[in-house]
Amino acid sequence: MDKLVVSQSPPLRGAVAVSGAKNAVLPILAATLLTDEGCVIEGAPDLKDVATMCRLMSDLGVTVSRREDGALVTRPEGGGSCDADYDIVRTMRASITVLGPLLAKRGRAVVSFPGGCNIGPRPIDLHIRGLRALGATIEVEEGYLVARAGKLTGTTLFLGGPFGSSVTGTANVLMAAVLSEGRTVIESAACEPEVVDLARFLVRMGARIRGVGSPRLEIEGVRKLHGATWRVIPDRIEAGTLLVAAAITGGDVTVTGASAGMLTGVLQTLREIGVTIEEGPTSIRASRSGPLRPAQFVTLPYPGFPTDLQAQFMALLCLSEGISVITEKIYPERFLHVAELLRLRAHILREGPSAIVVGVPWLSGAKVMASDLRASAALVLAGLVARGKTEVKRIYHLDRGYERLEEKLKALGAIIEREPDPEAP
Ligand code: EPU
Repeated sequence: MDKLVVSQSPPLRGAVAVSGAKNAVLPILAATLLTDEGCVIEGAPDLKDVATMCRLMSDLGVTVSRREDGALVTRPEGGGSCDADYDIVRTMRASITVLGPLLAKRGRAVVSFPGGCNIGPRPIDLHIRGLRALGATIEVEEGYLVARAGKLTGTTLFLGGPFGSSVTGTANVLMAAVLSEGRTVIESAACEPEVVDLARFLVRMGARIRGVGSPRLEIEGVRKLHGATWRVIPDRIEAGTLLVAAAITGGDVTVTGASAGMLTGVLQTLREIGVTIEEGPTSIRASRSGPLRPAQFVTLPYPGFPTDLQAQFMALLCLSEGISVITEKIYPERFLHVAELLRLRAHILREGPSAIVVGVPWLSGAKVMASDLRASAALVLAGLVARGKTEVKRIYHLDRGYERLEEKLKALGAIIEREPDPEAP
C-alpha cells in the first residue's frame, strides 16, 4: 500500500484542470443497464471507484472499455448476472445504484445490503421505500437485498428522510421510474448536480422527465431507452478541494473546467474566510494574501454546503485567526479526521454533530491515517502547510475518488511524493 509524503510547500500557483465528477459517472454507468444499446460517457475520471463500477458492470453483462480520449464505451453483451456481490458493494457504496436499473430492465436484482462505513450509518430505507412504491417486492436474505418486480407502475412517492433526501436513493428510484408504466412523481427528490446530470443523461436516452433540478420530478414511463453519448459534469468536490489548497497555502490557483454555479455556498464561505474568488464562465480562481478568518457553516443537501467538503474546510480553518464552528447535518458522525488533525497540532473540540475549531498559528507534520476519501484530502491539504513532513497513510481511500491528486498539486508547486508504505499491513 502507498502513502503520500507531504512537505511544507510554497504557496501553490498556476492553473489546474478539474476531472469529471465521480458521483455523476457512477450512477450514469449504472443507468446504461437500462438499454440494450451501447453508450459513450465522455470525461469519465480514471479512478479506483470507476474501475470497480466497470468490474461490476461486466459481472452484470455490460463490458466497459476506455477509449484513447478517456471516454468510457459500454457494450451490453446480453445475459449477465443480476447480482451485486458483497465484496464489491462493501468497497463502493455507489454500487447500490444498479438496484433500480436491474429491477426496471430485468425484473430482478440481488444486491448486497451495504453496511455502515467510516462516515457513519448509511441506511437505504429511502431506496427501498421508493422502489416498493413502484411495485417491487424487496426482502433481505442472507445479507442481500433480493428485489423482484413483474411490472413497475408509476405512482406519487415521497423520498424525504431525517437528513433530507437521498442522492443515490433518488438515482435508484428515478432509474426504475423511467421504465415503469405510467406517471411517477418523486416528491423531495435530491437536487444535487450529480442527480441532475443523471436525469439529463436519461433524457438523452429517451426518458421523459420533467422538473430536473427541482425537488419534484415527474416521470412519464417509456417502454424502451436507447444508447446515448454524454459528457459528465466537472467534479465540484475536487474543484473545491483544489481551491482550498490555494487558500491554505496562501497561493493563487485557477481551477479550469469548473462550474462556479455548482459551488455557490462554498465560494461564499471561502470569501468569508478571506480568500479572493474570481468566477469565470468555466473556471474559478482562488487567491489569498491576508490572514484566514474563522467561519461558521452547516453541511446541508444541495445547494447547501456539501458534506464532501467539510473535512477539507476544517483543515483550512485550523489555521484561521479565531474560532470556527462546523456542523454536520448530513452525516453527524463524519468527524474521524478530527483525531488525525489533532496529531498535526490542530485544536478542535467535538460537540455532538458540531466541531469547534480553535485556530492555531501553525501545524506540525506527523504520520496520519486516512479514514475516508474526503478525510484523506483534508490531511493532504493540512500537510501542505504543516511544518516538516506529513505522512498520509492508507491513501487507497484517496485513489477511490481523486484523479492523480498528488500530480495535480505537484504541478502547482506542492512538495508531495507517493511512496510505498513498508509499515502498512
Ligand atoms: N439516508 C437515509 N435513508 C436512506 C438514504 C440516506 O436516512 O435511505 C440519509 C443518510 O444517512 C444521510 C443522508 O440521508 O444522512 C444523505 O445520504 P445520501 O443517501 O444522499 O448519500 P449517498 O447517496 O449514499 C452520496 C454521495 C456521497 C455524499 C452524499 C451526500 C455518491 C456515490 N455518494 O451518497 O459522497 O456524501 O451523497 O451528499 O453519490 C463521497 O464522494 O465522498 C461521498 C461520500
